[in-house]
Amino acid sequence: MRKSLGLAAAAVVFSFATAAFADGDAAKGQKVFMKCKTCHSLEAGKNMVGPSLHGLFGRKAGTAAGYKYSDALKNANIQWDEDHLENWLKNPKTAFPGNKMIFVGLKKEDDIENLIAYLKTATK
Ligand code: HEC
Repeated sequence: MRKSLGLAAAAVVFSFATAAFADGDAAKGQKVFMKCKTCHSLEAGKNMVGPSLHGLFGRKAGTAAGYKYSDALKNANIQWDEDHLENWLKNPKTAFPGNKMIFVGLKKEDDIENLIAYLKTATK
């Protein structure tokens, strides 16, 4: 039954694309970020296993200062926005093949939506 709820939520996300993200719950997103915290800081210039996510929105992929990226991300040639993040967080492996972020991806649409709402404020 949880599954059908998830599908309903996914349908809503698809029909309202950006509007749905605006409704993401940042407080819930902060909890989802626990999954990212082992590898990412939100502090400018503090790179860990992964690059700092400070200033993420509008930043070109593969350009955090002082971080050594894979060629896959260096050559991705995109700017991080909601759509690219959604795609990346769902399945990093297929989003930019050959990248080195070892993360299975988030399966629930609302986790992604909430996380993006959180990141929008937390990465500023
Ligand atoms: C096991 C460590 C690990 C975890 C967990 C992880 N990441 Fe990453 N992440 C990385 C690495 C390593 C890279 C750099 C990939 C590359 O260069 O190919 C990266 C890259 C990224 C980038 C691209 C940044 C840029 O500057 O272009 C974003 C965005 C990102 N991660 C977000 C997340 C989020 C959000 C989560 C949690 C849902 C997460 N990551 C979980 C290791 C991790």
